[in-house]
Amino acid sequence: MTATTALDIEKIRLQFPVLHQQVNGKPLIYFDNAATNQKPKQVIDAVVNYYQGYNANIHRGIHTLAEKATKAFETTRHSMQKFVNAKHVEEIIFTRGVTESINLVASTYGRTFLKESDEVIVSGLEHHSNIVPWQMVCEEKKAKLKVIPITEVGEIDMSAYRKLLNAKTKIVAINHASNSLGTINPIKEIIKLAHEVGAVVLIDGAQAAAHLEIDVQDFDCDFYCISSHKMYGPTGAGILYGKKNLLEKMPPYMGGGEMIKDVTFEKTTYNDLPYKFEAGTPNIADVIALNEAVNFINTISKEQIAEYESELLTYATEKLSAIPAVKLIGTAKEKVAVQSFIIEGIHPFDIGQMLDARGIAVRTGHHCTQPLMDRLGVEGTVRASFSVYNTKAEIDELAEGVKRIVNFLKP
Ligand code: ALA
Repeated sequence: MTATTALDIEKIRLQFPVLHQQVNGKPLIYFDNAATNQKPKQVIDAVVNYYQGYNANIHRGIHTLAEKATKAFETTRHSMQKFVNAKHVEEIIFTRGVTESINLVASTYGRTFLKESDEVIVSGLEHHSNIVPWQMVCEEKKAKLKVIPITEVGEIDMSAYRKLLNAKTKIVAINHASNSLGTINPIKEIIKLAHEVGAVVLIDGAQAAAHLEIDVQDFDCDFYCISSHKMYGPTGAGILYGKKNLLEKMPPYMGGGEMIKDVTFEKTTYNDLPYKFEAGTPNIADVIALNEAVNFINTISKEQIAEYESELLTYATEKLSAIPAVKLIGTAKEKVAVQSFIIEGIHPFDIGQMLDARGIAVRTGHHCTQPLMDRLGVEGTVRASFSVYNTKAEIDELAEGVKRIVNFLKP
């Protein structure tokens, strides 16, 4: 049985209120899922229910609403523990998302343990958020940032990676899946090799969380970062998973309420994990709603989502590559459902605008991966990224739109 017959996509679509609207007089076709995917009603309801029913600060109050809010907030910590298969619940730190999670590790682990001429390795596929925080800490500590080159199809050059690793390598930071090209990186192998030289590994899981199985114990990664809004949850929430023994050795990231045990003007002692890294009132409503995003994914199952999305990707790749003027960018063997492309002589922004006029939302530009675009010799791309609520009929509309643009604009 194929995923198409196994999943009732129309029923799934009914759970997403935003999909049922016209944009520029046409039914919305939302293909910007890698930027942020849409939210099912149960996630939206969870935010509303919190504010309407039990808005209260957490961990501090003993009144009924505070206890209810605290319980709901901590329920999400347990469900995220299961979602990534962390050994200990206190290994799940709530952040605003992947960017904050990476900055947290760079600023605490990086600043504490990097020394002059140590090396940090990233790949040529990284989002700016997995480059700049490392550049900043390397500059401060006089450490060196090394970059694993990528191949023409957009895969990490593993033999070059092996050569970069040495006793000076202290941190390897790599994405699980590329936001611009969709490439799924062989993270288990990457982690194993890094550990052989004694480096710790951070995985940026932004583009993986909604699509791929995550098992941090099986991967044996040291840190794994997730943004809620890329896995059907609200914006402004996410997690940092970190191995307990490492998180314990790291100093706090921000000072404030909740991250302390005891404060005097002479000395402050810090709270236990995970609270040591959660200063201030967190994004309570959105963390609570993230639990519903996990429920949404689990109800369908990651396996079925991945199977269906891979069907969509294959279909889109065939359709787009059949248009002679289209050049696909990023054709790695293993990919999540992201397809970038360009049309020689037509700027990606123009393509994006003309598709928008047909109700089709794609992302255009460098996708916060300027070094990758430089490597591929393009200014930017048009990126269509798919989710479980997309359909082949929508991909037909995309292909039709692209064909018309080519006929209309091609010099
Ligand atoms: N990182 C997000 C993207 O790839 C915003 O579009």
